[in-house]
Amino acid sequence: MITPLILGNWKMNTTAATAAALAREVAQGAPANGVSLGVCPPLVYLPIVAEACRGSRVAVGAQNVAYEKNGAFTGEVSAAMLKDVGATYVLLGHSERRHTIDPHEDDRVINRKLLAVLAEKLVPVLCVGETLAEREAGRTMDVITTQMKQGLAGVKIAAANELVIAYEPVWAIGTGKVATPAQAQEAHAHTRSLLRAQFGELAKGIAILYGGSMKPDNAREICSQPDVNGGLIGGASLKSADFLAIAKAALEATR
Ligand code: PGA
Repeated sequence: MITPLILGNWKMNTTAATAAALAREVAQGAPANGVSLGVCPPLVYLPIVAEACRGSRVAVGAQNVAYEKNGAFTGEVSAAMLKDVGATYVLLGHSERRHTIDPHEDDRVINRKLLAVLAEKLVPVLCVGETLAEREAGRTMDVITTQMKQGLAGVKIAAANELVIAYEPVWAIGTGKVATPAQAQEAHAHTRSLLRAQFGELAKGIAILYGGSMKPDNAREICSQPDVNGGLIGGASLKSADFLAIAKAALEATR
């Protein structure tokens, strides 16, 4: 049984003051067991948020990382630096980085970043998912296959908790449109079969999160699917009450 993981992706939101307050509220309200929690603030607020979460059950993650270790890479931040200020997780291949922010990140760059994150013993959260056009063309599973294979090229892990995957259909992110539980399960089962092909038995223990308009009122049903092990939450992670309600729903779904 995988302990469900609920990660908040704050994207480019909050201020130093509101980030610290939100982190404190999440830390104080986190369930004592049965569900793991993490928050991914904007990079500049990561140390403040790590401080606010210190001693609590809430881990901290980054939303991006450089693939190089150190040196003359103006504007970049390495995995070692993220670790130094208290990060545990690093989001990689988020659809906004693949499709929205210019220049777009491709699977090759995502793979380089993922290997850099693993080398520092941080936990990469590889996001995969199809656009609406790709779903309508019947290409959902092919897109997931390509993003998984290329994103995880050359990756070796010794334990299931060294890697997290997030299935995030692009058409469901920030749109209020959520995948049906059956659509989520189908994509997650496919993702798990790809993990099994690469990592064998370890695949059973690797958390596969669902992301895309997960809210307190739909979290329980989605998290009840056999291959859904929690969520990557955007909009609803900016309100502590909603984020904690999703965590509670995930906990109840897996009891
Ligand atoms: P959303 O975002 O919950 O606002 O749809 C999810 C994500 O981008 O990870």
